[in-house]
Amino acid sequence: MSAYNIEIQKIKKSRRDSVDFNQLKFGDRFADHMFECEYKNGEWSNFKIKPYGPIQMMPSANILHYGQGVFEGMKAFCHKDGKVNIFRPDKHYERFNRSCKRMNIPEVPKELFISALKTLVDLDRKWVPIDRFKSLYIRPFVVATEEFLGLKTSTTYKFLIITGPVGNYYSEGIKPVKLTTMPEYVRAVKGGFGDAKVPGNYAGSLLPADLALKQGYTQVMWLDAVEHKYVEEVGSMNMFFVIDDSVVTPPLGGTILPGVTRRSILDLCSEWGIKVSESKISVDELMDAHNAGLLSESFGSGTAAVVSPVGLIHHDGYNIELDREKMGPLAQRLYDGITSIHHGDAEPPADWCMII
Ligand SMILES: Cc1ncc(COP(=O)(O)O)c(C=O)c1O
Repeated sequence: MSAYNIEIQKIKKSRRDSVDFNQLKFGDRFADHMFECEYKNGEWSNFKIKPYGPIQMMPSANILHYGQGVFEGMKAFCHKDGKVNIFRPDKHYERFNRSCKRMNIPEVPKELFISALKTLVDLDRKWVPIDRFKSLYIRPFVVATEEFLGLKTSTTYKFLIITGPVGNYYSEGIKPVKLTTMPEYVRAVKGGFGDAKVPGNYAGSLLPADLALKQGYTQVMWLDAVEHKYVEEVGSMNMFFVIDDSVVTPPLGGTILPGVTRRSILDLCSEWGIKVSESKISVDELMDAHNAGLLSESFGSGTAAVVSPVGLIHHDGYNIELDREKMGPLAQRLYDGITSIHHGDAEPPADWCMII
């Protein structure tokens, strides 16, 4: 029983029938309800689930000018028996609160986060797609709302959760994506906030991402901000490489997002007896491995795409060509392993799934 009393105002008529669940894209459809509460005078209050719709905020609100805010991205999946599985809520909550800390935002108590999440997803459970390649995307977020134009920490906030049914993240589906480096731009530096899920990281990546798209690439593969040579991550994915039968992923060092899917891959690999080295890897080492015929696979990991194969990496006029048609064997095994857990076809490790 939760200590948080959530008032529920139900929508008069569900909008679900107006959505074609066979044609879902990513991020453009929203379920009937949302959760909203406020922080003022040092505490969270006014817990409400209401129909999805506009929120009230003054034009001078901090988030609109200084960007004091954080967000999360997580998913719920449908099991064959109709149960709904919210994937790794504890890990998402931990990262959410770490992001809040970095942005000087008050902690959202775990019980509040989980209780709001469960109540909202349960109320809109008909919105969780049944299909294996689809899911309910869940977006918890906090925005600073104080009316004040001047650089200081807000004293008031809103914590909200919205959800919506989604299909594949990339238009390629689960076909290999094409990446390019862009050494003239960087995503994050040590001491900054590259390891927090906050709007500024993404706003700054939009111009380079658009330039990459115009040049025919799906996303930018970020290099480190100091030497411009070590692989960091991709727009919304952590990176993995298979070189000479060893698996390598860049280490968490404060500049990349500690992905929940990355963690799940490390856990599964360890369970399967596959060693993954968390170590720096330069784009030159990747090119050398490719030239020597040793780079057999590369893939990205993230909540949105789960496991996404990489078919090509462009760097400085040079193309690292991998399989352009299909996933490599490790990516496929991980994709199948994780999606089987999502959909209840495989036994999850303890604490991975919250079934409602
Ligand atoms: C910058 C960035 N890196 C990596 C990831 C992958 O993280 P996760 O697996 O938790 O979705 C994401 C997605 O949230 C991201 O935005």
